[in-house]
Amino acid sequence: MGHLKKDFPPDSPRNKHEKEDCMSEDELTPESTSESTKKPRVLVTGATGFLGQRVIRDLAGSYEIHATHHGGLEPSDNVQPVHWGASSASPEALVALSSPEVLIHLMALARTEACSQQPELAHRLNVEVAGRLAHVCCLRGIPMIFTSTDLVFDGTRGMYVEEDIPVPINTYARTKWEAEQLLTQEFADQPHLLTIFRIGLSYGWGG
Ligand SMILES: NC(=O)c1ccc[n+]([C@@H]2O[C@H](COP(=O)([O-])OP(=O)(O)OC[C@H]3O[C@@H](n4cnc5c(N)ncnc54)[C@H](OP(=O)(O)O)[C@@H]3O)[C@@H](O)[C@H]2O)c1
Repeated sequence: MGHLKKDFPPDSPRNKHEKEDCMSEDELTPESTSESTKKPRVLVTGATGFLGQRVIRDLAGSYEIHATHHGGLEPSDNVQPVHWGASSASPEALVALSSPEVLIHLMALARTEACSQQPELAHRLNVEVAGRLAHVCCLRGIPMIFTSTDLVFDGTRGMYVEEDIPVPINTYARTKWEAEQLLTQEFADQPHLLTIFRIGLSYGWGG
């Protein structure tokens, strides 16, 4: 697939808005030029991360994966790397050009120490980018999967349930909880399109 731009007429208001803060198509065009497989397309952000590597490995047999990276990723069967630096590149353009059936949003500043040291960056990457992706997914009716953390709870007791009130105690957890709330608001009219997983610490070999 060489060219992904096909969704909206050039002058539609939605397209115009999305183009305002986009990088060029060339910058976002998936790097592989293999033919479309006609499998449902899944856009995975943070595909080079610990969970992302595992997710794309598990999904690649059944889906066409658009996998974002910002440091390099080799194309493989059904996996097309898409270069996307989340601190500056447009989330709206990413979704518009990929045009996925589902978004799995894994990209985050996910280390607690890094978040505490760079709270503004953590907020930008973990909250603002997630919110903008949610907004564009909502407009386009694209289901979004978001991975939050059990660290939204302070851990003073165990056996938390979904309805318990989060009490995040560090910057990382606060950004994930803030993102949860923002996404829930964005999808308020279409809650069936949003899935939030609060994951405990995952471990294993190389994703
Ligand atoms: N693993 C866990 O135990 C766990 C538990 C609860 C929730 N989660 C959540 O699950 C998601 C994935 O976690 P993970 O453990 O896989 O995290 P990870 O290994 O740190 O992966 C994070 C991903 O985000 C990308 N990324 C970071 N900054 C970026 C930027 N500025 N622009 C573009 N991409 C950027 C990274 O790319 P590079 O590799 O190129 O830096 C990587 O692909 C996160 O949202 C995390 O909060 C994870």
